[in-house]
Amino acid sequence: MRLKTQLLIASFMVALVSPLSVFAQPVAKGVWLGNEVGAAKTPPMGWNSWNAFRTEVDEAKVMGAAQALVDEGLAKKGYTYVNLDDGWWQKRRLTDGRMIIRTRIFPSAATPDGTTSFRGFTDRLHSMGLKAGLYTDVGHNACSQAFDLHSPNLPEGTAEERQVGLDGHVSQDINLYFKEWGFDYLKVDACGLADFAPDSKLVKDNGYIGLTPEIDRASLNRTDSDRVEKRYAAVAAALKETNPDNDYVFSICNWGMANVREWGKDVGSSWRTSSDITPNWSSMLHNYDSAVKRALYAGPGHWNDPDILFIGAGDFDADHLTEARTHFTLWAMMNAPLLISYDLRKAPQSLLDIWGNTDLIAVNQDPAGNQAVVAYDSDDAQILVKTMADGHKVVALFNRTASPAKVNLLASHLKLKGDAPIQLTDLWSKAGSTFTGETEFELAPHETRVFSVQGARELTDGVYLSEIPGAINVADDGVREPQLDPTVHRMIDPWAGTRSGGSWPQYAGWGGAQADMTPYAQALQIADHTYDSGIGVLGNSLLQVKNEGYAIFRATVGVDDSTSNRDRAVTFAVYADGKLVAKTPPLKFGDAAQDISADIAGHKIIELLATDDSAAKEQPVVVTWGGARLQK
Ligand code: GLA
Repeated sequence: MRLKTQLLIASFMVALVSPLSVFAQPVAKGVWLGNEVGAAKTPPMGWNSWNAFRTEVDEAKVMGAAQALVDEGLAKKGYTYVNLDDGWWQKRRLTDGRMIIRTRIFPSAATPDGTTSFRGFTDRLHSMGLKAGLYTDVGHNACSQAFDLHSPNLPEGTAEERQVGLDGHVSQDINLYFKEWGFDYLKVDACGLADFAPDSKLVKDNGYIGLTPEIDRASLNRTDSDRVEKRYAAVAAALKETNPDNDYVFSICNWGMANVREWGKDVGSSWRTSSDITPNWSSMLHNYDSAVKRALYAGPGHWNDPDILFIGAGDFDADHLTEARTHFTLWAMMNAPLLISYDLRKAPQSLLDIWGNTDLIAVNQDPAGNQAVVAYDSDDAQILVKTMADGHKVVALFNRTASPAKVNLLASHLKLKGDAPIQLTDLWSKAGSTFTGETEFELAPHETRVFSVQGARELTDGVYLSEIPGAINVADDGVREPQLDPTVHRMIDPWAGTRSGGSWPQYAGWGGAQADMTPYAQALQIADHTYDSGIGVLGNSLLQVKNEGYAIFRATVGVDDSTSNRDRAVTFAVYADGKLVAKTPPLKFGDAAQDISADIAGHKIIELLATDDSAAKEQPVVVTWGGARLQK
C-alpha cells in the first residue's frame, strides 16, 4: 500500500474512534454577547390592536386607543407603543414592490397618486408622545391569510400582489416602515413559514404561491430551526442598519416554535414563547408556563414574550377581576411586554386600575431586568420571587387552581434571614404586614397575592447569581438536540378542540439553564449535598455574568446527582474579562463538590465554563454551580 493511502486510512480510523464527535466545547469570549440592541432596555409597554379588533381594525379605533392612553394617564405610566397588527395592508405594488396601505380603513394614509403613506399617522402618534408599531410576516403571506379568511381586510389582488410578507423584500420593507413611514416597532409573524404548503387546500383554494413549510407546529423534528433563526437574523440585521439611532423594537412572533426560546434572545427585543393567548384561564396558564421558567434567557434588551394581555375579555373581563389581576401580576413579574389589547375608548375604571397599577408597572420596568424566579413550584400553586435593582424582593403567590389554596411563604423562598422580621406590602391593596420565618396565606381560586418585601438578606455582602438572571447571558446552554419542554400546561387547543390526538409538549427548551434547579427541574445536589441557591446547567456550557462592582466569585461545583450520564468528568473554569482566574480538576459523578473562588475585582464580564469530553450523541452531563454568588 502506498504511504499516502496508508495515511489516509489511518486518519480515517482515528476519526472513527477519536473525539471528532465530542460535543462542541465552548470557550470564554471575553466580551459580552448578550443582545442589547434596540430600545427595549425594559419590557415594551403599550397597546396592540389584535386581541381587541383582530383584522377589523381601523384608524378611528387605533387613534381612539392612542387618545385614551394619553387621557387616562396610561401613556405617562409607560404605555407608549401603539401597535397596528394584521389587517392594515392592501397589497404589494408589483411595479416596484412597495407595500400599499388599505386606505378604506386608514384614510389618512391616502395620497393623490395612490402610493399611500403612514407618515401622517406616525407623526400624529409621535406628537402625542407615543410611538408607533407595525406588523408583518417573515414569509410571503401573513396569518390572517390563513386564519381570518372571512375578513374584509385581507390583502387583495393577484397571488403576487397578496404576498405582503417580508420574504424577498426585507430591506425594502424595513426601509419603508422605519425611514419613510417612521415606525418604531416591528412585530414579525411566521405563518408564512408554517401554513402555506404548496399542495395544501389553503394554497389551492385561495390561489396563493406556496412555500414549503419551515415550521411544523406539530413537530420540532420537521421544523428547520436553523433556517427560521437565519431568516429572523436577517430581519434583525436590516433593522439595525435602518435604525442607526437604535430607537426600535424587534418583536419576534413565531409562537415558541423553532427553538426560539433559546435563540430569540440573541436576535430580537422579545420573542413569543407560545401560541396565541385566548381569553381563557387555561390558555393564560399555557402561555405563562412557556415563559416563567426561562428567566436566565431574558434581560435588558431581550425579553420572553408570553403574548399580548387579554385583560378585559372572557375569563379576564370586568366580572373576573381576580383573574384579570392575576394575569397582570404574572406578566409584570415575568418582565413580559405589557401590551393592552382592549377597546380603550370604553374601558371601565376597574380595568384601567389594573393596567394602571404603578407599583406593578415599576416591578415590570425595573432597570435590572431580573425576571422572577420560581421559588416554589407545583401544578397547584407557585411562588415567584423577583429581585429589584435596589436589592429588595417582590414575591407573588399564585393559585393556579379553581379551589382555595393554602400557601406557606418562607423566609428561605426569599433568600432572607429566617430570624429577622420581614415586611410585606401588598401591591394591590397596599396593606402592610410583618412575619418572621414563615407565614401562611389562604388564596382564593385563581388569586395571586403580590408583595414588595423588606428583610435581612441571607447573603449580606453579595448576590446569588440566581437572584440576578438579568445580568446573566446564557451564551451556550450545552443543549445538544432541542428537546420539548414538558412543563407547559397542556390546554385544549382553542382551534383544534379535541379533534386532535391530544395536546402534547410543543416548545423546545427543555434542558436549558435554570436558576435554583437543574435543567430538568430537580433540586440542585452534588454528592448528597443540596443547594438552595445556584445555577443548574448542562456540561459544555458557557454562562456570562455582568459584574457591577463585586470583588469575588464563589461557588461549590460538581456533577449533579441527578445526571444520567455518570461517566464523564467535568472541568469548571472561571474567566474574568477573558482571563482564566480559577479552575477545578475534572470532577465526576459522586465526587465531592469543590469550592471555587476567584478574584474578579475590577472585571466586568465573568464567564463560567463547564466542559467535558462527552460525545455529541451522548446524554449531556448535568452540572451544578452550587451557591454561585458575587461578593464584595
Ligand atoms: C398570529 C400572531 C397574533 C396576531 C395574528 C395576526 O396569530 O401570533 O399575535 O398577530 O397572527 O393575524
